[in-house]
Amino acid sequence: MQDQLTALLAKAQAELATLKQRPEFEAAKARYVGPNGELTALMKQMGSVPKEQKPVIGKLINETKGQLQTLLDAALRQIETAELQAQLGPAIDPTLPSPDSGAGTSHPLTLVREEMCRILRKVGFTVVEGPEVETEYYCFDALNTPADHPARDAQDTFYFPDSAKFGNVSKKNHHEKYLLRTHTSSVQIRTMLKGKPPIRIVSPGRVYRRDTSDATHSANFHQLECLYVDKNVTVRDLKALLDYIFASLLGKDTKTRFRPHYFGYTEPSFEVDLSAKHLPKVNKEWIEIGGCGMVDPTVFEGVGYDSTVWSGYAFGMGLERLAMLLYGIDDIRYFYQNDVRFLKQFA
Ligand code: DAH
Repeated sequence: MQDQLTALLAKAQAELATLKQRPEFEAAKARYVGPNGELTALMKQMGSVPKEQKPVIGKLINETKGQLQTLLDAALRQIETAELQAQLGPAIDPTLPSPDSGAGTSHPLTLVREEMCRILRKVGFTVVEGPEVETEYYCFDALNTPADHPARDAQDTFYFPDSAKFGNVSKKNHHEKYLLRTHTSSVQIRTMLKGKPPIRIVSPGRVYRRDTSDATHSANFHQLECLYVDKNVTVRDLKALLDYIFASLLGKDTKTRFRPHYFGYTEPSFEVDLSAKHLPKVNKEWIEIGGCGMVDPTVFEGVGYDSTVWSGYAFGMGLERLAMLLYGIDDIRYFYQNDVRFLKQFA
């Protein structure tokens, strides 16, 4: 019996160390310690062992069992390590610099923003920025959209708690709330309060609305705002500028049209549509692209400009919509997913 146990252990030691796969291991385990295994068979012979040898043989069997278990555990650990190694692939040194992936490319929204600013700079506009955290005064009240006006409902969106403090965003009144700006039109007010006319500014930036995300909506998107204040500015100047911008960005075959609309800060006000059937994926004749109008005298008076002397126009439009038209992109969500397969197409 003793020899048989020693031989069994030696055999197991040699075999188990060579196992590479789980099924082989399970089979070997069954062969040694399973209900029909070799060790079990030896244990069954205990009955025929003379009584006085039973304690010695019993102890030996237990020791062999323990040693077999140790060998099995080691074999399983070896297989698990090999499995993990196969999943991880070849060894790497994470402290080495990563392979050079190139300088990258500009995001399509950046490309359109820069192109629009370039087009507007050519005709005398200066690029200015405004804060994304705004106050009710700059976002609504100064734009002739008082708290009880229905037009404010649509843009009553992301407010901060009263306790929020933003040291770098000035408030007009002590009581007003901070909010994430719903449009870039607030920059008109900040600009007019800071300087004197004539004024000619373009302000691109991020805006926020309570919108459910789908192929054409996003709770945060980008706009581009323009304001022109001078003497004797007319709707004709506004239309001419928009025609110039869209022809420059989208091609000379692009047409624009105005539809009467309501905005508190302009009078008259229009929505702007453009027609650009030469562009890819444009299958509608007219596409709404933004809002515009002649600056309302109330807005001028509010910032201390004499509305009998000064006149002006303003407009705002979505940058995503422009980029989608220009590049034939049919889902706004692509802009924010950072998928390099998408982004690389705009190199
Ligand atoms: N702020 C408007 C919007 O977000 C767009 C707009 C309309 C801007 C008329 C203007 C304007 O400057 O005059 O829908």
